Parts: sequence; structure tokens; C-alpha cells
Amino acid sequence: MNLEDVYKSKVITAEQAATKVKSGDRVVIGHACGEPIEVLASMVSNCEAYENVEIIHMVAMSKSEYAKPGMEKHFRHNSLFVGGSTREAVSSGRADFTPCYFSETPNLFKEELPVDVALIQVTTPDKYGYCSFGVSNDYTKPASKCAKLVIAEVNNKMPRTMGDSFIHVSEIDYIVESNHQIIELNPPKIGDVERAIGEHCASLIEDGSTLQLGIGAIPDAVLLFLKDKKNLGIHSEMISDGVVELVEAGVVTNKLKTIHPGKIVVTFLMGTQRLYDFVNNNPMVEMYSVDYVNDPIVIAKNSKMISINSCVQVDLMGQVASESIGLKQISGVGGQVDFVRGANMCKDGKSIMAMASTTSKGKISKIVPLLDEGSAVTTGRNDVNYVVTEYGIAKLKGKNLKERARALINIAHPNFRTSLIQEWEKRFKTEF
Ligand code: COA
Repeated sequence: MNLEDVYKSKVITAEQAATKVKSGDRVVIGHACGEPIEVLASMVSNCEAYENVEIIHMVAMSKSEYAKPGMEKHFRHNSLFVGGSTREAVSSGRADFTPCYFSETPNLFKEELPVDVALIQVTTPDKYGYCSFGVSNDYTKPASKCAKLVIAEVNNKMPRTMGDSFIHVSEIDYIVESNHQIIELNPPKIGDVERAIGEHCASLIEDGSTLQLGIGAIPDAVLLFLKDKKNLGIHSEMISDGVVELVEAGVVTNKLKTIHPGKIVVTFLMGTQRLYDFVNNNPMVEMYSVDYVNDPIVIAKNSKMISINSCVQVDLMGQVASESIGLKQISGVGGQVDFVRGANMCKDGKSIMAMASTTSKGKISKIVPLLDEGSAVTTGRNDVNYVVTEYGIAKLKGKNLKERARALINIAHPNFRTSLIQEWEKRFKTEF
């Protein structure tokens, strides 16, 4: 059979594809904005046909109908990173959360969590029969390498990304053709607090640095203050629209990168059509799976690596909670620790934890004497280096417990400094 016939022999409808999933299967679905929408929707409408199908996902960007009340007999969602659409399901007990570093997910799928079905979304094949994983390579490609069955939505709107981001048609069992818009993430609102944090972070970034930026308003605010920098590079778990602007402005050139010079290296993309147009067939952007991009040893091969991530609480010892508030799981570690460790290990690297000093409209301080009871420590105190709020920068590495607590109090919101100082004096039995 020629390639075209091979392709055609695999094409079925979304409804037919849904029947290929069996009760008791473990199904890994394409990540974040690469989520395959049509087969999942058919599975949900056909839910009575299933019992106990485990659905593994990380950053869920759609409505996650499979995790809604009433679905629990049919689907059991196992979340590796809780998000807006899965938080309630996890906290009410209908879904599970499995802690893991993003970089280790491909190995989990080979060993602890073997995959029955990889449900993915890819581009249409090129003339050699290769489909690109588009916006999500991360764990999506590794899961499809080890799954017993691969069902792919082939979407002609998926941007064709380069790097090691391809699957051959012969490796796909069933194809569902689709042409829906790829899920987009709109740019967040950036207020004065985020701008101040962005400016402090930017002051730590030297020309020629390589950056990792997390999701959200703070990383986007940092990008606003990088317009005068020179020869920045990107080696990041993900990028969003802000990076496109810096490439167009000639700030991100990747020229001085010590590995993959000239290239932006990422494992997934979350942005608007602007980003998706930019990456389409763009050899400057290389996508690799997450066990490579997020491997701290690979990250550390960059020089001047800067990681910027966010968190919900920092205690006075410098322990960082980013994924839970008390026992309530609100997200996951994702690639935070992978990049903190990689940046700490690299020559002239810096890891930055950036957050607003308060939450709930200023009522709660994020710098606290002790983490809330039950909170998971996401990044341990031995790993944390810079902490940044709108009030400044605290460098913790090399500082003793008294000094790090003092540095953190100095960047806390002024309304909470008195009580934090009282705690400091009680703890260290000396005057602040
Ligand atoms: N006490 C109580 N509630 C708090 C809180 C605190 N100290 N800090 C945050 N919250 C609440 C917020 O009010 C908000 O609630 P809402 O959704 O009901 O409005 C919610 O928790 C999320 O906080 P917010 O500050 O808006 O989150 P964010 O979008 O800026 O994301 C993290 C911050 C920490 C959740 C996010 O960066 C993350 O998941 N980090 C870990 C993963 C990571 O770093 N990955 C690497 C790069 S992709």
C-alpha cells in the first residue's frame, strides 16, 4: 500500500474511535492546548458504554466533561496537574491527583502507569507520512510511543512544529480527521503589581541569558521589561505569545546559547493563533519531549540559565508551596523543580520564584511564618535561590535562617511586616 492508502485505511469517525476504548483502559490524552476534542466528546456522550476508564491528563484546558458529577462510574480522572476545570473534581474526591515531576512522566508511562490508549492530536501528514505533534510534544509523544493503541485526531489547523516532534502514519492505529480551532490561551491581564515584579525579575537577567518562563501574568510581565536586553535565548517547558514579540524585536536571538544555539527549545505551547502561526514550519522553534527539555542535566548545559516560576506561599525558611493551599490541591509541581534545579546547577544560572506579596485583594500574605497545615512543599528551602515580590528581591542562597527570614520579611507586604517581625523575634530570640 502506498502512504495515501495506508492513511485512508485508518480513517474512522470520532464515534467509531470512541468504541475502540474499552472499560478498564488507561487513556492518556494529548496535553494542554493539544487536547483532542472530538473523540473525547464522543466518549463522554457514549459514557454508558464504559466502566472505570482511567483518564490521565496534566494541564486540562477544555471543560473536562469526563470529570463532571455523574461521570464517576464511567471515567476516573487521574490528574498529574490540577487545573481550573479539574480542581473541584479532585477536591470533592471524584478524581485523583498523582504527584510527579513533569520530566518523569514519560518514564511513568513506561513503568508505573502503562498506557492502553494514547488519544492524541497531530497535523496532517507530510509527503513522507510524518505528522507533527504541533503544540504539545511533552508527554504526548512518549505516551504514544508506548501505548498499546494510538488514536489520533488529524487536524489541519494544527501548526507543524519542528525538532523531534513527529509520528509516522504507520505508528497510528486509527485516524479521526478534524478541523476545529486549536485551543487558545488568551494573554493574562497585567496590573501594577505584576509589572513591578516583572521589572525586579528583569533586573536579574543579563544579556546573553537563556530563559525559562512559567505560565501566567508574572512571566508575561517579565517579558515587558526585556525589550532593551540583547541576545537572549529560550529553553523553556512552554512559551506563550510574549516570546514572539521579543523574537520580532530582535531581543531573543538564541545566538549565545550553549546548547541548541540559534533555536528556541520547548516542549509545549500555549497561546493564541499568533503564536501558532509563528511556530508553524519555523525551524527556529524546536520541540522535544519533556524528559529531554525538562531534564535538569540538559537544562544545566545552558549557561546563564534563568528560571522564573510562581508559587502560592513562601515560609520564613524559604520553603515554597506552589501546588496546594493546605490540603487543597490547586495545581501541580509541573516543571518548576526541574527548572529550579537545572538553573541552580548551570554556570551563572539563577532560579527565581516570583509572586505577588498578597492574595485575596491584599487580605492574605503569601510570605508566612509557616506554610498552611497540609501544604505540600513544592520547592525545598535548599533549592530556592531568589524570591521576588512587587517590593523587591530576596536572595536566599548562602544565607542562614535568620538572614533568609529577614530578607523575606523585607519584601513582604508592609501590612504584614509587623506580625512577621514579631514571629522573627520570637523564633530567633533576638531583636530584628
Ligand atoms: N492563600 C490562599 N489562597 C491563595 C494563596 C494563598 N497564599 N495564593 C493563591 N491563592 C488562591 C488565589 O486567590 C487563586 O484563587 P482563585 O482561583 O479562586 O482566584 C488561586 O489560589 C490561584 O492563585 P493565583 O495567584 O491566581 O495563581 P496563578 O495563576 O498566578 O498561578 C501558581 C500560580 C503557583 C498556582 C502557578 O504558577 C503554578 O501552578 N505553579 C506550579 C507549577 C509551575 O511552576 N510550573 C512551571 C512552569 S509552567
